Amino acid sequence: MKLNTKQSIIFLTGFMGSGKSTVGPILANTIGFRFIDLDSLIEQNQGMRINDIFAQHGESKFRELERATLRDVLQQHSTIISLGGGTVTNEETLGLVKQHGVLVYLKSDVEHIFQRLRTKSDRPMLRDANGNLLDGEGLRAKIETLLTARERFYLQADIIITTDDKKIGYTIDELAKKLSHVID
Ligand code: S3P
Repeated sequence: MKLNTKQSIIFLTGFMGSGKSTVGPILANTIGFRFIDLDSLIEQNQGMRINDIFAQHGESKFRELERATLRDVLQQHSTIISLGGGTVTNEETLGLVKQHGVLVYLKSDVEHIFQRLRTKSDRPMLRDANGNLLDGEGLRAKIETLLTARERFYLQADIIITTDDKKIGYTIDELAKKLSHVID
């Protein structure tokens, strides 16, 4: 990893279910940073759940809100920002993120993601065209297709860490160690 400057926003990216929202607050506590969850901030600002934003206004409106909310937090310092799984899957947004901080990719494979998401109903991207929750092979296939399309963006992160079978404490330790080289 080669970062020239010390930077003080750490962005967490990765597929839905990769652990961003779990790792984020613990890591923030560990290294003395603040924590912001981008999806929670969008929900607070809109007074609506992400599911309802998608259902009532569609994905493109959500992406607009996501970009605008992200722009509002780019001047933060000593902050960990957990992004949504789709936030950086656009060159412009990815560029913006990389310009303002260190990007960490929490990498999980299809099977682990499938196991973590199979009981969840709060991911609008994992519904079919009629808005019904996907399950079984349909869910697995959707995760695989989306992950394949998105991974080229995720892989441009400054730090990549696999979370599959790792206990959260080890993930935090490993990340804190790697980050100590790039933050003040
Ligand atoms: C999305 C991921 C979600 C949320 C929205 C869209 C995606 O966040 O932003 O449902 O496109 O992958 P998590 O990755 O935190 O689940």
